[in-house]
Amino acid sequence: MANQILLLATFLAMTCSLVVAFEPAPLQDFCVADATSSVTRVNGLPCLDSKLATAEHFFFSGLHIPGNTSNPVGGKVTPVNVAQIPGLNTLGISLARIDYAPMGVIPPHTHPRATEILTVLKGKLNVGFVTSNPENKLISKVLKKGDVFVFPVGLVHYQQNLGSGTAISLSSLSSQNPGVNTIANVVFGSNPAISEDVLAKSFQVEQSVIRYLQAKF
Ligand SMILES: *[C@@H]1O[C@H](CO)[C@@H](O)[C@H](O)[C@H]1NC(C)=O
Repeated sequence: MANQILLLATFLAMTCSLVVAFEPAPLQDFCVADATSSVTRVNGLPCLDSKLATAEHFFFSGLHIPGNTSNPVGGKVTPVNVAQIPGLNTLGISLARIDYAPMGVIPPHTHPRATEILTVLKGKLNVGFVTSNPENKLISKVLKKGDVFVFPVGLVHYQQNLGSGTAISLSSLSSQNPGVNTIANVVFGSNPAISEDVLAKSFQVEQSVIRYLQAKF
């Protein structure tokens, strides 16, 4: 009897955990985000009356245009998520084009709400992600045109162009609004700043090093 209760409890725990999924299946065909609607927030954005939906709500143009990589890191992301395509609201998917200058990088960052699957369209990329504590194992690979790599949800990852020419990749992400936490910006560029003594002790360096890094972000 006790065994049966345990079995039932285990079964319930397993089935219940399936229900606790993020960006769950939509409850209607679609829910085009209506930016002009009330301030009421669902988990996502309020829906436009579905009778008013048009092709434009599901459309974006311009992903053939290279991003401007003239910046300190030499990498540029062109996002195509619910902010660009309101029809993506509640659908749990989005896209990004990434351009890289020679030796350009997309610095270490996380997507709090999405797994990313990246395809190299042009060039040669060094990519990697790091597993969570305490292992912190770096899993990295050099990719060429046509190669595909996965960055699991929430893990810190980066990309670097290893070629002498420009590189391009295309990423799909498992959220309409993946979010980005670029580690250096979050830690050294927060507004207001995290106090110097917190960062100095955390990174085990002098406060002058922290001030130097904060000035950059
Ligand atoms: C690219 O960005 C740089 C730096 O912001 C700017 O000076 C330059 O005009 C931009 N180039 C194009 C083609 O927009």
